[in-house]
Amino acid sequence: MMAGRGAHMAAVGGPARHIPVMLSEVLHALEPKSGAIIVDGTFGAGGYSKAILEAADCEVIAIDRDPEAVAAGRALAAEFPGRLRLVAGRFGAMDEIVKRQGVETVDGVALDLGVSSMQLDEPERGFSFMKEGPLDMRMSKEGPSASDIVNTLSAGELAEIICKLGEEGRSHAIAKAIVARRAEAPIETTKELSDIVARVLGRKRDEAKHPATRTFQALRLYLNDELDELARGLSAAERLLKAGGRLAVVTFHSLEDRIAKRFFASRSTPARGSRHLPDSTAQALAPSFRLLNRHPIEPNQSEIRQNPRARSARLRAAERTAAPAHGLDLSALGVPQISFGM
Ligand SMILES: C[S@@+](CC[C@H](N)C(=O)[O-])C[C@H]1O[C@@H](n2cnc3c(N)ncnc32)[C@H](O)[C@@H]1O
Repeated sequence: MMAGRGAHMAAVGGPARHIPVMLSEVLHALEPKSGAIIVDGTFGAGGYSKAILEAADCEVIAIDRDPEAVAAGRALAAEFPGRLRLVAGRFGAMDEIVKRQGVETVDGVALDLGVSSMQLDEPERGFSFMKEGPLDMRMSKEGPSASDIVNTLSAGELAEIICKLGEEGRSHAIAKAIVARRAEAPIETTKELSDIVARVLGRKRDEAKHPATRTFQALRLYLNDELDELARGLSAAERLLKAGGRLAVVTFHSLEDRIAKRFFASRSTPARGSRHLPDSTAQALAPSFRLLNRHPIEPNQSEIRQNPRARSARLRAAERTAAPAHGLDLSALGVPQISFGM
């Protein structure tokens, strides 16, 4: 699925305002207290930041890589003078970002992955096959666009992206069709790409998902380096959180959730055979988190009814222990490795 969500409340002529997903569950996991400093690594429309600031007399350092989200968030910062710092950047570098703010450790980190409703529902951003627009998909509005990718990579490279990041079984056929079509004219719009994919896959009558769903997800994840970012963000949060601090992560599709699941599993169980290791090694591998829930939390039916884009959300949350942070191992976390650079 495409990982964006937020109910359809579009004001006439504008994109829908993002509705925060599993807000009360995330707040419950973070447990903000007076004097705490919490990182909201995916500010978006500021739904989580606002609720955290209202829940306790704490501070929020909010990060978003989308300059439009950061600019729109200035109004919220003005509502909470001196309590909301908004930074344009990537959450994969949150420890450097937070340290540049003069803060060494924090009490909580929230990550709400994927794209916001503002991004998904704004045709100009090119994230959705449901809206005709330029084939863009860049969260940060910098670097190569999805159109650059589909018009320049080889068929083999496109197939690798679509297979590994979209888990699409017909990736080679789709890549071949893209290369054949661009030989006539460059592929420049979301509709052009979704039509190419739909022609290859056809559409079964009972199919709930649009045939282009997986291909669009794959290009978006590749272009924005989203899965590597997730692994780096989890690892940065592990370094930043003080003992007793909370990490809450909301995922929206299986590739994201696998990374979060493996991260929390590897950090919450003692390494095999650690009883027989020298003290210093056992200490380095000691659990750095205690899970708050054994299984991920899912949204309730009433939230899904009100906000259908919440339906695939999974919340995983844990409390930091005093053990040292572990090293980052992308392949152990299940981050798909792409064999060529961007
Ligand atoms: C689902 S929205 C967050 C919505 C937010 N929780 C709210 O309640 O309004 C995800 C946001 O995270 C941002 N984002 C995604 N990946 C990011 C990254 N690696 N670093 C910083 N921001 C990121 C996107 O630009 C988007 O604005």
